[in-house]
Amino acid sequence: MSYILEVNNLVQQFDLNKGILDKIKLRKGKICIEEKVVHAVNDISFKIKKGEVFSLVGESGCGKSTTARTVIKLLEPHDGEVIFDGLKISELTRPQMVKQRSKMQMIFQDPYASLNPRQKVIDILMEPMLFHEKAKDKDEARKKCLSILEKVGIRAEQSERYPHQFSGGQRQRIGIARALAVEPEFIVADEPVSALDVSIQAQILNLLMDLKEEYQFSYLFIAHDLSVVKHISDKIGVMYLGKIVEKGTTDDIFKRPKHPYTQALFDALPRLEGNNLIHSKGIEGEIQSPINLPKGCFFYERCEKRIAKCQLERPVDVAVDEGHYVSCHLYGNNDE
Ligand SMILES: Nc1ncnc2c1ncn2[C@@H]1O[C@H](COP(=O)(O)OP(=O)(O)OP(=O)(O)O)[C@@H](O)[C@H]1O
Ligand SMILES: [Mg+2]
Repeated sequence: MSYILEVNNLVQQFDLNKGILDKIKLRKGKICIEEKVVHAVNDISFKIKKGEVFSLVGESGCGKSTTARTVIKLLEPHDGEVIFDGLKISELTRPQMVKQRSKMQMIFQDPYASLNPRQKVIDILMEPMLFHEKAKDKDEARKKCLSILEKVGIRAEQSERYPHQFSGGQRQRIGIARALAVEPEFIVADEPVSALDVSIQAQILNLLMDLKEEYQFSYLFIAHDLSVVKHISDKIGVMYLGKIVEKGTTDDIFKRPKHPYTQALFDALPRLEGNNLIHSKGIEGEIQSPINLPKGCFFYERCEKRIAKCQLERPVDVAVDEGHYVSCHLYGNNDE
C-alpha cells in the first residue's frame, strides 16, 4: 500500500526577533547577540498510508497545530521534507501548490473563527468548489453543496444563513462540509471536537469516520486527549515539546505504552472507580519553554523514570517492536 503522506525530519521554528537590533543585548557590561527562537517542531517523521488515520496527541503547546499547518504548507518548513502522494510539496512554490491545495484540506479547532462571518453558508462552500473547478457552473455547484450539507446534517433551507446563526456543533459540521466541497484525498483535522460538548463530540467523530468510509479519505487527526483518538486511529504519534516521543499502532500505544510520557498521559486520564469518576492530578510540572531546548531528553524534568544519562544525551528513536518506536534511554541502543 502506498503512502499518501510522508513527513521526514520536519523542523519548524518561529523567530521572535523583529530585527538585528532586537538581537543585541547587554550582558554583564558586554554586548552580545541573543537569538530568540521558538523551536515548535523538532525533527519529526511519520508516514500515513492511503485510507489510514494517523493521530498526533500531546499537551497544549507541544507543536501539534504547527505540524499540521506545516504539513499542508500554510507555513513553509524550516527544514525537512513533506511528500504528498509521491510529490515533494515542501519544495513547491505557492502557484504550484494551488493545484495540490484542493487535495489536502484542514478542519480547524475553532469552527467559528475559521468561517467567514460575512458569507452565507452556501457561499462558504461554493467559493472553493468553483475556484478548484469541482463544478462546471454555479447551478451545479449549488446542487453539489446542498447535497454535501445534507450529508453533514445541515438542511437546504439553513444554507442561506450566516455562521453566527448556528450552534457550535453545527458550525463544526459546516467546517467539515467546506473541506468536503473540494473533494480532498487527505484531511487534517486539528482538534475538531475539543471546542464541543461531550455529547456532540461523539456525533462529529462518527460523522468524520462515516465520511472516511464513504470517500476513502486519509486523516491526520490532532487531539490533546488519548481517549478521543482511541476508536478512530490506525496509528498514533505522541508528541512532547515538538518531538514525537513514541509512535505505533493504536494497540501498541494503548496496550503496550513504553515512553514514560505516554504512560503518564494514560495515568492522567479520568477513570471510573465503582460509580465515581476519579480525576487524577495529571502530570507533575509544566511543559518546558520551546525557546531554550534542554540538552538531553526533552521530558527529563518531569520524568519519574529518569536516569543520569537522560539529562546529558538526547535519546534516538528505537524500534521496540515492528513499527513501534520509542525515543527514550530506557530502551534499545539508548540504554547502552
Ligand atoms: N506564529 C507563532 N509565533 C511564535 N510562536 C508560535 C507561533 N505559533 C505557535 N507558536 C508557539 O509554538 C509552540 C507550539 O504551538 P502549537 O500551536 O503548534 O501547539 P499545539 O500543540 O497545537 O497546542 P494546543 O493544544 O494548545 O492547540 C507554542 O509554544 C506556541 O506558543
Ligand atoms: Mg493546536
